Amino acid sequence: MLKLSAEEQSMLSGDFGPGVRKAMEIVVTLGQIYGARRLVPVGSVQVAGVSYRNLGEAGLEFLREWADQGARVRVPATLNPAGMDLHAWRELGFSESFAHRQLAVIEAYRRLGVRTTCTCAPYLVGNVPHKGEHVAWAESSAVSYANSVLGARTNREGGPGALAAGITGRIAACGLHLDENRRATLRVIVRCPVRGLSDFGALGYLVGRAARNRVPYFVGLEVGAGLPLSSDAALRALGAAMAASGAVALYHVAGVTPEAARPDMLAPGHETLVVDDLQPAYAALNSDVREIDLVWLGCPHASLEQIAEVVRLLAGRRVKAALWITTAREVRQIAEAEGLVDAVEASGGRVVADMCVVVAPMQELSLRTLATPSAKGATYAPSHSGLRVRYGTVEQCIQAAVTGVWSGSGASVASGSIK
Ligand code: F3S
Repeated sequence: MLKLSAEEQSMLSGDFGPGVRKAMEIVVTLGQIYGARRLVPVGSVQVAGVSYRNLGEAGLEFLREWADQGARVRVPATLNPAGMDLHAWRELGFSESFAHRQLAVIEAYRRLGVRTTCTCAPYLVGNVPHKGEHVAWAESSAVSYANSVLGARTNREGGPGALAAGITGRIAACGLHLDENRRATLRVIVRCPVRGLSDFGALGYLVGRAARNRVPYFVGLEVGAGLPLSSDAALRALGAAMAASGAVALYHVAGVTPEAARPDMLAPGHETLVVDDLQPAYAALNSDVREIDLVWLGCPHASLEQIAEVVRLLAGRRVKAALWITTAREVRQIAEAEGLVDAVEASGGRVVADMCVVVAPMQELSLRTLATPSAKGATYAPSHSGLRVRYGTVEQCIQAAVTGVWSGSGASVASGSIK
């Protein structure tokens, strides 16, 4: 039985206006469905349902109506990626008609009080919940990062649920908001080398497929020191891949993530998975396409460090394929100030803000094949964007951008099999 405080009851009764009442009705209904006994205050929300391609006219009208009813978020709120760069959509080739509707969606969110930065990495632009803080986030890789790397607490919210949480400042205390559901139920022993971005994505892909609603706890996984990427980039690639292949919203890495040290972290009766080969992931995520139209980095949205890495790997060479690095607008602005955007553009590439390829209307562009080091991008791009995909290391992807063709097998440095 869900119990409400006097203020929550008052929101539900309409004392705060029809927009807040509608939001509280959503929060309460979801709480009842999941058997919650109380609501908890949230420190921030991350709202999904931003691309007009996914929302459509009905979704846009829903948002406008909510804004007309006076609803406004009462906690910091950020937005998921849109279906285009909100400034450079024309140069990228998106249509006037799509852009017009997409900008209307952003305006509706602005009226609702949401900060209209569009990114799946809100933690790179100041939305950084602290350990133990309850939040309501609705983007799978961001949810994974908030829970696992930051130790904050969120379920994988839907778009309206996260927005309703922002408007009421509350979410139902269920699922990963509760201590008992954060314990690991799948111990993952890693016995193969896991080195670059695509290796972490490949590992995440395999573990996500095997996880089936369980919380993984990695042992034997080296993150950070001695690797060609930061621990943050490694964990983002790992978490995003598990979120895509298995809806994993929380994982722990021994010696690395904040809750892994809890003495009772491994739940009694947990199962064990041994991974000694990443090759099945590379095989599953690769098509046999040879000519590459688009190389996409920045899934999840690229950090400054990752943009700098691309500049280093390009080494001033011109690209033949389109090269997009997707990121948050604020990160792009810093990259611009540091000369990184100019360096990418001098090679013929683009640092693209606000958007994500898998929610963009890619059929409007003449791009049919994709190379990416992101397992999440490679998982979704064929079904969501109709692109044929090559999945490999960052170096392989940059090489494909320069030559316009995929070379190499797409295999990782590791070999073996999942048990
Ligand atoms: Fe972000 Fe899109 Fe990748 S939302 S994690 S860039 S699939």
